[in-house]
Amino acid sequence: MAEGNVERTLVLVKTDGVRRGLVGALIGRLEAKGLKIVAAKMLRVTPELAQRHYVEHEGKVFYTALIQHITSGPVIALALEGRSAISVVRLLLGATNPQLAAPGTIRGDWALGLTPNLVHASDSPEAAARELALYFTADEYQAYSRVGEEYF
Ligand code: CMP
Repeated sequence: MAEGNVERTLVLVKTDGVRRGLVGALIGRLEAKGLKIVAAKMLRVTPELAQRHYVEHEGKVFYTALIQHITSGPVIALALEGRSAISVVRLLLGATNPQLAAPGTIRGDWALGLTPNLVHASDSPEAAARELALYFTADEYQAYSRVGEEYF
């Protein structure tokens, strides 16, 4: 039985994920869970975009390192859709700190540090709406049916 509202969430494969050649593996984990890619692009995050994205962390001790990391190379931005997609993706990622992330989660299995923690994902419907609008315009979304979608 399908449960949960269909949601969209922003996922960024951060620069460490791209540099480590984990893009395919990371997206594969998300796709295997049934999440549908409805928009995707590779881009270089500018300092201006980084500041807008991480505005709630401004002034925190890790802010400068966070901005430096996200602007240090290309990222992959994904808009993912699915039932309860926001919480499902956060569960798949595991805790922000990879040393605390459960084995079996993406960060628990692969992430090396708190700043280079491989992937960012929106943490609430409000954050998802705000963050998706930073990375995608309305005409960049694709509507299609995924095989097996009737089971989700
Ligand atoms: P992300 O999901 O991109 O959201 C904010 C990021 O700040 C987080 O992942 C981490 O990469 C980074 N960060 C660095 N230090 C900390 C910290 N002490 N607490 C939370 N986030 C941190």
